[in-house]
Amino acid sequence: MIMAQIMFALFALFLVSVCTGQDFCVGKCPHYKVLEDFEVRLYDASTWITTKVDSSQASDVLAANSQLKDYAKKQTEAGFEIPTDSWPALIKVKDGKGDPEFSLSWFVPPATKTPEDSDPLVQLESKPEATVYVRVFGGTPSIQSGQENATKLREALITAGKNFDHDIYSGAAYESYFSPAHHNEIWIYAA
Ligand SMILES: *[C@@H]1O[C@H](CO)[C@@H](O)[C@H](O)[C@H]1NC(C)=O
Repeated sequence: MIMAQIMFALFALFLVSVCTGQDFCVGKCPHYKVLEDFEVRLYDASTWITTKVDSSQASDVLAANSQLKDYAKKQTEAGFEIPTDSWPALIKVKDGKGDPEFSLSWFVPPATKTPEDSDPLVQLESKPEATVYVRVFGGTPSIQSGQENATKLREALITAGKNFDHDIYSGAAYESYFSPAHHNEIWIYAA
Protein backbone atom coordinates (compact mmCIF):
# COMPACT_ATOMS: atom_id res chain seq x y z
CA MET A 1 0.00 0.00 0.00
CA ILE A 2 2.75 2.44 1.05
CA MET A 3 4.73 1.34 -1.98
CA ALA A 4 1.76 2.04 -4.26
CA GLN A 5 1.44 5.52 -2.77
CA ILE A 6 5.11 6.21 -3.33
CA MET A 7 4.88 4.97 -6.91
CA PHE A 8 1.85 7.17 -7.49
CA ALA A 9 3.62 10.21 -6.04
CA LEU A 10 6.63 9.59 -8.28
CA PHE A 11 4.41 9.13 -11.30
CA ALA A 12 2.55 12.37 -10.52
CA LEU A 13 5.87 14.19 -10.17
CA PHE A 14 6.94 12.75 -13.50
CA LEU A 15 3.73 14.00 -15.13
CA VAL A 16 4.18 17.45 -13.64
CA SER A 17 7.73 17.60 -14.93
CA VAL A 18 6.86 16.56 -18.49
CA CYS A 19 3.67 18.61 -18.87
CA THR A 20 5.16 22.07 -19.05
CA GLY A 21 3.49 24.97 -20.75
CA GLN A 22 -0.19 25.89 -20.86
CA ASP A 23 -1.51 23.10 -18.64
CA PHE A 24 -3.00 25.27 -15.88
CA CYS A 25 -5.97 26.25 -18.05
CA VAL A 26 -7.84 23.12 -19.09
CA GLY A 27 -10.47 22.95 -21.84
CA LYS A 28 -11.24 25.96 -24.03
CA CYS A 29 -8.59 28.54 -23.30
CA PRO A 30 -7.22 31.60 -25.07
CA HIS A 31 -4.01 30.84 -26.90
CA TYR A 32 -0.80 32.77 -26.25
CA LYS A 33 2.93 32.55 -26.90
CA VAL A 34 5.56 32.83 -24.17
CA LEU A 35 7.60 35.86 -25.23
CA GLU A 36 10.40 35.92 -22.71
CA ASP A 37 12.16 32.62 -23.18
CA PHE A 38 14.52 33.23 -20.23
CA GLU A 39 14.66 33.78 -16.48
CA VAL A 40 15.86 36.94 -14.74
CA ARG A 41 17.75 36.19 -11.51
CA LEU A 42 19.33 38.47 -8.93
CA TYR A 43 22.36 36.66 -7.51
CA ASP A 44 23.97 37.59 -4.18
CA ALA A 45 27.59 38.69 -4.18
CA SER A 46 29.63 35.48 -4.44
CA THR A 47 33.12 33.99 -4.40
CA TRP A 48 34.56 31.63 -7.02
CA ILE A 49 37.81 29.84 -7.80
CA THR A 50 38.76 30.25 -11.44
CA THR A 51 41.31 28.79 -13.82
CA LYS A 52 42.05 29.26 -17.52
CA VAL A 53 40.81 26.68 -20.06
CA ASP A 54 43.20 26.34 -23.03
CA SER A 55 40.61 25.56 -25.73
CA SER A 56 37.01 24.49 -26.23
CA GLN A 57 38.00 20.81 -26.39
CA ALA A 58 36.39 18.59 -23.75
CA SER A 59 39.85 17.32 -22.74
CA ASP A 60 40.97 20.87 -21.90
CA VAL A 61 37.79 21.49 -19.89
CA LEU A 62 38.41 18.28 -17.95
CA ALA A 63 42.06 19.30 -17.39
CA ALA A 64 40.93 22.66 -15.98
CA ASN A 65 38.47 20.79 -13.77
CA SER A 66 41.32 18.64 -12.40
CA GLN A 67 43.28 21.83 -11.80
CA LEU A 68 40.49 23.21 -9.59
CA LYS A 69 40.08 19.86 -7.85
CA ASP A 70 43.82 19.71 -7.05
CA TYR A 71 43.72 23.28 -5.78
CA ALA A 72 40.69 22.57 -3.56
CA LYS A 73 42.42 19.46 -2.18
CA LYS A 74 45.68 21.32 -1.52
CA GLN A 75 43.88 24.19 0.23
CA THR A 76 41.77 21.80 2.27
CA GLU A 77 44.97 20.07 3.43
CA ALA A 78 46.23 23.53 4.46
CA GLY A 79 43.06 24.04 6.56
CA PHE A 80 40.86 26.03 4.18
CA GLU A 81 38.13 23.52 3.22
CA ILE A 82 37.34 24.63 -0.33
CA PRO A 83 34.49 22.24 -1.22
CA THR A 84 34.55 20.09 -4.35
CA ASP A 85 30.78 19.47 -4.35
CA SER A 86 29.34 22.98 -4.76
CA TRP A 87 27.47 23.95 -7.92
CA PRO A 88 27.29 25.33 -10.50
CA ALA A 89 30.56 25.00 -12.34
CA LEU A 90 30.71 27.93 -14.76
CA ILE A 91 32.52 28.05 -18.08
CA LYS A 92 32.97 31.62 -19.15
CA VAL A 93 33.35 32.20 -22.88
CA LYS A 94 34.70 35.51 -24.08
CA ASP A 95 34.07 35.61 -27.82
CA GLY A 96 34.20 39.26 -28.77
CA LYS A 97 37.13 40.41 -30.88
CA GLY A 98 40.10 38.09 -31.37
CA ASP A 99 40.40 34.45 -30.38
CA PRO A 100 37.81 33.17 -27.92
CA GLU A 101 39.01 32.83 -24.31
CA PHE A 102 37.66 30.34 -21.81
CA SER A 103 37.82 29.96 -18.05
CA LEU A 104 36.30 27.53 -15.56
CA SER A 105 34.98 28.56 -12.14
CA TRP A 106 33.62 26.71 -9.13
CA PHE A 107 31.30 28.35 -6.66
CA VAL A 108 32.72 28.82 -3.15
CA PRO A 109 29.87 28.90 -0.58
CA PRO A 110 29.52 31.94 1.71
CA ALA A 111 31.49 31.82 4.98
CA THR A 112 34.12 29.50 3.52
CA LYS A 113 37.52 30.41 4.97
CA THR A 114 39.56 31.19 1.85
CA PRO A 115 43.35 31.41 1.43
CA GLU A 116 45.31 34.42 0.23
CA ASP A 117 45.45 34.46 -3.56
CA SER A 118 48.81 32.72 -3.98
CA ASP A 119 48.35 30.10 -6.69
CA PRO A 120 49.58 31.17 -10.15
CA LEU A 121 47.01 28.96 -11.94
CA VAL A 122 43.91 29.41 -9.80
CA GLN A 123 42.44 32.80 -8.88
CA LEU A 124 39.98 33.61 -6.12
CA GLU A 125 37.29 35.79 -7.67
CA SER A 126 34.71 37.97 -5.92
CA LYS A 127 31.62 38.82 -7.94
CA PRO A 128 29.28 41.60 -6.85
CA GLU A 129 25.51 41.12 -6.61
CA ALA A 130 24.34 40.81 -10.21
CA THR A 131 21.31 40.43 -12.45
CA VAL A 132 21.68 37.40 -14.70
CA TYR A 133 19.57 36.33 -17.70
CA VAL A 134 19.28 32.55 -17.83
CA ARG A 135 18.33 30.00 -20.50
CA VAL A 136 17.98 26.36 -19.41
CA PHE A 137 18.91 23.44 -21.70
CA GLY A 138 19.55 19.70 -21.35
CA GLY A 139 21.94 17.07 -22.64
CA THR A 140 25.63 16.45 -22.01
CA PRO A 141 27.02 19.98 -22.10
CA SER A 142 29.47 20.95 -24.83
CA ILE A 143 30.90 24.25 -26.02
CA GLN A 144 28.90 23.65 -29.23
CA SER A 145 25.46 23.22 -27.60
CA GLY A 146 26.34 26.06 -25.20
CA GLN A 147 27.19 28.31 -28.14
CA GLU A 148 23.87 27.59 -29.89
CA ASN A 149 21.89 28.15 -26.74
CA ALA A 150 23.82 31.35 -25.99
CA THR A 151 22.90 32.62 -29.47
CA LYS A 152 19.23 31.84 -28.74
CA LEU A 153 19.40 33.67 -25.42
CA ARG A 154 21.07 36.70 -27.01
CA GLU A 155 18.31 36.82 -29.65
CA ALA A 156 15.62 36.60 -26.97
CA LEU A 157 17.29 39.39 -24.95
CA ILE A 158 17.51 41.63 -28.01
CA THR A 159 13.82 40.96 -28.78
CA ALA A 160 12.94 41.83 -25.18
CA GLY A 161 14.99 45.04 -25.39
CA LYS A 162 17.40 44.11 -22.58
CA ASN A 163 20.88 45.61 -22.18
CA PHE A 164 23.60 43.03 -21.71
CA ASP A 165 27.26 42.26 -22.30
CA HIS A 166 27.41 40.97 -25.89
CA ASP A 167 30.96 39.56 -25.72
CA ILE A 168 30.68 37.24 -22.74
CA TYR A 169 28.43 34.37 -21.75
CA SER A 170 28.80 31.56 -19.24
CA GLY A 171 27.64 27.96 -19.35
CA ALA A 172 26.52 26.66 -15.95
CA ALA A 173 26.63 22.94 -15.19
CA TYR A 174 25.04 21.33 -12.16
CA GLU A 175 26.26 17.74 -12.47
CA SER A 176 29.46 15.89 -13.21
CA TYR A 177 30.24 15.77 -16.93
CA PHE A 178 29.69 11.98 -16.78
CA SER A 179 26.23 12.21 -15.19
CA PRO A 180 23.43 10.46 -17.20
CA ALA A 181 21.07 13.47 -16.94
CA HIS A 182 21.88 17.15 -17.17
CA HIS A 183 20.40 20.52 -16.27
CA ASN A 184 22.53 23.19 -17.95
CA GLU A 185 22.12 26.92 -18.19
CA ILE A 186 23.50 29.83 -20.16
CA TRP A 187 24.11 32.92 -18.06
CA ILE A 188 24.40 36.40 -19.53
CA TYR A 189 25.01 39.29 -17.16
CA ALA A 190 22.78 42.35 -17.44
CA ALA A 191 24.72 45.47 -18.41
C1 LIG B 1 20.70 23.80 -26.93
O1 LIG B 1 21.22 22.65 -26.29
C2 LIG B 1 20.50 21.46 -26.51
C3 LIG B 1 21.10 20.36 -25.69
O2 LIG B 1 22.44 20.12 -26.00
C4 LIG B 1 20.50 21.12 -27.98
O3 LIG B 1 19.72 19.97 -28.20
C5 LIG B 1 19.94 22.28 -28.76
O4 LIG B 1 20.03 22.02 -30.12
C6 LIG B 1 20.76 23.54 -28.43
N1 LIG B 1 20.38 24.66 -29.24
C7 LIG B 1 19.21 25.32 -29.20
C8 LIG B 1 19.09 26.44 -30.15
O5 LIG B 1 18.32 25.07 -28.41
